[in-house]
Amino acid sequence: MKVAVLGGAGGIGQPLSLLLKNSLPAGSELALYDVMPVVAGVGVDLSHIPTAVKVTGYTKDDLAAALTGADVVVIPAGVPRKPGMTRDDLFNINAGIIRSLMEAAATACPKACFAIITNPVNSTVPIAAETLKKAGVYDPKKLFGVTTLDVIRSQTFVAALKGLDPATTAVTVVGGHSGNTILPLLSQVKGVTFTQEELGRLTPRIQDAGTEVVEAKAGGGSATLSMAEAATRFTLALVAALGGTESVQCTYVQVEGQPAAFFALPVRLGKDGVQEIVGYGTLSAYEQQLCDAMAPTLRANIQKGVEFVANG
Ligand code: LMR
Repeated sequence: MKVAVLGGAGGIGQPLSLLLKNSLPAGSELALYDVMPVVAGVGVDLSHIPTAVKVTGYTKDDLAAALTGADVVVIPAGVPRKPGMTRDDLFNINAGIIRSLMEAAATACPKACFAIITNPVNSTVPIAAETLKKAGVYDPKKLFGVTTLDVIRSQTFVAALKGLDPATTAVTVVGGHSGNTILPLLSQVKGVTFTQEELGRLTPRIQDAGTEVVEAKAGGGSATLSMAEAATRFTLALVAALGGTESVQCTYVQVEGQPAAFFALPVRLGKDGVQEIVGYGTLSAYEQQLCDAMAPTLRANIQKGVEFVANG
């Protein structure tokens, strides 16, 4: 497998690449691309770790070389939030970055799977879809928004509240990846129940967890380490699935019959990307109310991405 990380020298890209260097299957190739020339050194640095994963750093005009032959392209490139900003405030800068990276990918590796981390994910994934469509190579089964961080945060917070092992606490998170579009399905967590008061505290804590990090970093960016861990988990699941080992992951994909045209939900990953939309069962009355409330925001975020490519 060849995995390309676009934004490989950044705050997420570096720890993500370290984790992938240590955990991709033996014989894999890791291509790091970044506009910052230091990426070449990041590649050399990682290459001294004794695992059977070949790492190369690429910069500037070498994007096509980084992408050629890639099976999976993971994209954390872009700028992070500062305190007081929403993810949508990043749209003006990051939309153009995603479009140009996806234009290059549409030519260099049109059959790859794409995992988008760059915010605002609710809009950058539709931008990626429209860019691939324009190039005539869009396969909805192979485009994913990474929402795994919402899942692992939910695991952590639920386990802390209920005295469970965080590693084995499973929480389904649906919707999108910003504010009230993040909908943890706490009614479905096995073996525990929540009072309305607990739901009223825990749900917004999960929805605002990214902001909690942004504020704690006080102008120094947003989540990098937990995002790298989350993206590694998703990338490894995708690589395993392409190699024949299926698993079910929550991820933001194009889907029919949901409140918005792109929606995060449990998906079975297989040899061709999305194998099956697994879905998420019945929502509690509280969750249904939150879902109804967020749907217009999510649809507007998606439309903004679609129009960006149409007008660009
Ligand atoms: C996160 O959830 O931590 C990321 O999407 C970064 C952010 O801006 O919150």
